[in-house]
Amino acid sequence: MGRTYLADFSKLTACLEMVKVSPSAKILELGCGSGWMAEFLAVMGYDMTGTEIAEEEITDANRRIRSLEVKGFSPALKFVATPMESVHTVVAADSFDAVFVFAALHHAFEWREAIRSSFACLKPGGWFVICDEPNVLHIFISYRVAKLSKTHEIGFSKSELVTELRKTGFRKIISTGAKLHWWFRPHWLLAQK
Ligand SMILES: C[S@@+](CC[C@H](N)C(=O)[O-])C[C@H]1O[C@@H](n2cnc3c(N)ncnc32)[C@H](O)[C@@H]1O
Repeated sequence: MGRTYLADFSKLTACLEMVKVSPSAKILELGCGSGWMAEFLAVMGYDMTGTEIAEEEITDANRRIRSLEVKGFSPALKFVATPMESVHTVVAADSFDAVFVFAALHHAFEWREAIRSSFACLKPGGWFVICDEPNVLHIFISYRVAKLSKTHEIGFSKSELVTELRKTGFRKIISTGAKLHWWFRPHWLLAQK
């Protein structure tokens, strides 16, 4: 599991590199959980803001800042509790070089709102990176889990994501996910404002 997560983190950094979002750039993460990716990126030199709907995750995430400080780092890292659907109301608009979401967009009840809110946070020319979001088969695989855990689990078709990104105003879209996805391989998409 750890190896998979690290491979995904490496893929995210390769995506950022590909679109020339380099350390010191300002990045916003949506649905950051306890903030491990935001922490790694801050240590790499990015100016990071992690956001997350669950207050308890933000409490844990804030411990990461303190632990870095104890180790002598002064990271550009902060965490904010907010739903991704309205993130643009709590951070500065048009101010981020990149916004990314890793395995969390499919949990948002209003994922289209989350895409629109991300657009509002980005500078013109900034990139929205959708990482490891599940494909259509996830709807059937996770149906029972979602019912039992009272969470929201969906899968996306690539065409619905691309349609929504275009409708929101993103002008360039790149897919770095598997070409032969067989409806189960996850989506990796980059969209430029
Ligand atoms: C599968 S976890 C992934 C967490 C993190 N990206 C990671 O890889 O560790 C999904 C996260 O999305 C968060 N989440 C769900 N709905 C959300 C929403 N509408 N806005 C912000 N975060 C949300 C959950 O609380 C959870 O922490």
